Amino acid sequence: MHAGGPELVEERVTTPEGELVLLRPRDPASLISEESFGEDEYLPYWAERWPASEWLCRALPEDLGGLNVLELGCGLGVPSLVCARRGATVLATDWSGDAIELLVANAKRNEAALEARCVDWRSPEELLARAPFDLVIAADVCYERRNVAPLAALVSALASVVLLADPGRAPAEELIGELAEDFAVEEAGQCVRRLTPRSCAHRGALC
Ligand SMILES: C[S@@+](CC[C@H](N)C(=O)[O-])C[C@H]1O[C@@H](n2cnc3c(N)ncnc32)[C@H](O)[C@@H]1O
Repeated sequence: MHAGGPELVEERVTTPEGELVLLRPRDPASLISEESFGEDEYLPYWAERWPASEWLCRALPEDLGGLNVLELGCGLGVPSLVCARRGATVLATDWSGDAIELLVANAKRNEAALEARCVDWRSPEELLARAPFDLVIAADVCYERRNVAPLAALVSALASVVLLADPGRAPAEELIGELAEDFAVEEAGQCVRRLTPRSCAHRGALC
C-alpha cells in the first residue's frame, strides 16, 4: 500500500487450495475516518477477513479451469485467490481502492494471477460491459439495506450463476427475496446459497 498507509501485518490463511500468506492492516479500526464516513457512510470493512469468505471458499467448484469468475465486494479477496489457483480467469472488485491495491500485492506474493478493479455496485457499467461471467461470487456483501437495490439490479443484469455467502443478515435475505423471481435458489454449503438464472441468454458452463 502507499507510503504512510496503515501498518500491515502478515497472516497465514489456510484455504482449500493450500496456504496463502496475506498482508492485511494490523488495526482495521484505525482506518475509520470521519471524513469518508461523512461522504458516503464509508466504513473500511474490506480490511477484515469475514467468516463468510471462508464459507464461500469451501463452496467453490473444484474445477474452475478456463472459467470467468467475478467477485463482488472482495475485500481481502481470499475466494478470488482460491479461484485463481483453480485456474479461473478472475476479476476481483471492491469500491475500496485500498482493498484493490492490497489484493494486487497479495496476488503477487502468492503467485496467483488475477485482475482487481475498483468498482462500485451503484456504477457497474464496467462489469456489465465485461459480462457474461461463468460464476459471480460474493461473501457478506449485503449487510446494509442500502446495498439491496444496487446488488439486486446488478446481479439480475449479470444473469450468471452466483454463490452468495452470508451469515444470515436481514438485508441479504431481502436480496435473495428480490432475486427469487429470476433465480432458482438452493443451499450450497454452510451459509452459502447458489443462485441459478431461470433463463439466461448466456448458459455458462455452470448453468
Ligand atoms: C463485510 S465486507 C466483506 C469483505 C469480504 N468479501 C470478506 O468476506 O472478507 C463487505 C465488502 O463490500 C465492499 N463494499 C461495500 N459497499 C460496496 C459498494 N457499493 N460497491 C462495491 N463494494 C462495496 C466493502 O468495501 C467490503 O470489502
